[in-house]
Amino acid sequence: MRTVYLNGDYLPETEAKVSIFDRGFLMADGVYEVTSVLDGKLIDFAGHAVRLERSLSELDMRSPISMDDLLEVHRELVRLNEIEEGMVYLQITRGAPNDRDFAYPPAETEPTIVLFTQNKPGLANSPAALKGMKVISIPDARWGRRDIKTVQLLYPSMGKMMAKAAGCDDAWMVEDGAVTEGTSNNAYIVKGNTIITRQLSNDILHGITRAAVLRFAKEAQMKVEERAFTIAEAQEADEAFITSASTFVMPVVEIDGTALGDGTPGPVAARLREIYLEESRKTAV
Ligand code: PDD
Repeated sequence: MRTVYLNGDYLPETEAKVSIFDRGFLMADGVYEVTSVLDGKLIDFAGHAVRLERSLSELDMRSPISMDDLLEVHRELVRLNEIEEGMVYLQITRGAPNDRDFAYPPAETEPTIVLFTQNKPGLANSPAALKGMKVISIPDARWGRRDIKTVQLLYPSMGKMMAKAAGCDDAWMVEDGAVTEGTSNNAYIVKGNTIITRQLSNDILHGITRAAVLRFAKEAQMKVEERAFTIAEAQEADEAFITSASTFVMPVVEIDGTALGDGTPGPVAARLREIYLEESRKTAV
């Protein structure tokens, strides 16, 4: 049984309980982070900690823990649960006042903090990376502050179900004719030596993996264009891929039924995946 962390305590997963009045439960009033683990170490923890602080501050929510202590909790859970490859999930909500109310509770209300691990042996050597993913496009029906990593994940869940019903692996969301991002990842296309991905704004999550991959791409003399692209442009591209903490770099081989190139993962995505895994293992903590 997993050991999880709840409000300062390490507990067996079946003993960790949160109030029915918790704002996360009633209002999706909470933020989260997912940090991957390779070789028993955390990938890009500093990036996730900085984004967490930003998400909290955008929502006027305070953190119940310092970022140094948060690193220690991550490490302790990885150790206690003997995670070699997998993820650590972290969630902070505005806490549990003693009733339901739209207004935020008094500032002294203790936020709720939960962390748990997910064991995923073989995450880095995933066979999916050799096969590639098929995606469909769907309208982006989320709210306007997608730069804040909130736990309001109903529409992304619906998107994954729509993809599944279509025999595909994920959905790319489209707004005003252009792709915003995948349901739980950032989206990219490749044309020749150029990698194209939507520019940062409130329309997408500022992926931690995205930042690292774009840095490595530039270091490897690839060209990076941060701009919006359409599904039609993506279907004409040489390659496509996604990035996230749980998939690293994952090739996309089909969009709305159209195969990209010869329908197999392309060399740029494969190379970036390799570089990303190699470089992030070096700086893991
Ligand atoms: N999802 N865009 C969205 C909408 C996401 O939910 C995520 C991450 C990303 C990629 O961000 P990062 O590279 O920092 O993981 C982009 C996580 C993995 C999840 O919800 O499980």
